[in-house]
Amino acid sequence: MSPPRVAIVGATGAVGHEFLRVLAERDFSMRSLKLLASARSAGKTLSYAGEDHVVEALDENSFRGVDLAFFSAGGGTSLEFAPKAVAAGCAVIDNSSAYRMHADVPLIVPEVNRTSMGQHQGILANPNCSTIILVLALAPLQQRAGLQSVVVSTYQAASGAGQRAMDELHESTRAVLAGEQPAKPDALAHSLAFNLFPHVDVFMPDGFTREEDKMLFEVRKILAMPKLNVDATCVRVPVTRCHSESVSVQLDQPLTVAEAQDLFAQAPGIELLDQPAANLYPMPRDYAGRDEVAVGRVRLGRVFDPGLTFWLVGDQLKKGAALNAVQIAEAL
Ligand code: A2P
Repeated sequence: MSPPRVAIVGATGAVGHEFLRVLAERDFSMRSLKLLASARSAGKTLSYAGEDHVVEALDENSFRGVDLAFFSAGGGTSLEFAPKAVAAGCAVIDNSSAYRMHADVPLIVPEVNRTSMGQHQGILANPNCSTIILVLALAPLQQRAGLQSVVVSTYQAASGAGQRAMDELHESTRAVLAGEQPAKPDALAHSLAFNLFPHVDVFMPDGFTREEDKMLFEVRKILAMPKLNVDATCVRVPVTRCHSESVSVQLDQPLTVAEAQDLFAQAPGIELLDQPAANLYPMPRDYAGRDEVAVGRVRLGRVFDPGLTFWLVGDQLKKGAALNAVQIAEAL
């Protein structure tokens, strides 16, 4: 098979830029690269592997002569254009939430459920960023000790809300430090400078947010555990681009801390950093730009018995988005 002709839809966005970095870093084999965005960006140039590429406006003819398209331009764009791409013979790896829960769309974290990829009919979905980094840690526990329930609080970086949210965080922080009133936020519900808020995506009638629902339903689908309960609280924090999560799990079988640490240390995609006596535990600053999801603060739970409580950190733009999508493409 010759290498694919690749397109990136949403190439000018935060995840789009990360796609370019990850594809170059992994020396992804491709015959050609097409960069697509809204008409606002048509004619801009972006550099890939030392070469300038002109951004084109996305339209229905964009996928002629393209074999593989990474979509990261919002759910509306995916709903409208992914079927057109598939009709043109292109495989789609979609980073939006538009198709994740469709029965005929595999929702893939390659280290966990790559065997489900075979069922795809043109579209494969990349899970929600907080979900990806969580299931990497849940899967080895599920396999070894069985999972009963999960309680998770996220500490989500601005990057999850796109490039404008990162710009708003930087600009509002600068304004506060200069003694100015920060501008009214646009990409985020509130100003993030010296602040945080328990609100990621929209509120649902039962009081959870859609982000919290994504974590429940996507974890269930990826782990093939339709009855697993996941109680999530998603919090936006003033960090630029790396998410953290505090996780408590109820298990079927007890695990000692040493056994759990060993499981995490062996698990693909995870790095164990758990030496609290030396002040060593994962922090977003240290894992921004890294491929691995880091796990630390592993301890026996005090509420769930048998259970464990731990902390994890993963780059939202990398394993939480572009890297996972590129790994799906590599597995394809
Ligand atoms: P553009 O830069 O031209 O607006 P982010 O998640 O960082 O906000 O990025 C969103 C990405 O999705 C950008 O590349 C943006 O392009 C792209 N995008 C948004 N709306 C559309 C659309 N209707 N058609 C094509 N690309 C879109």
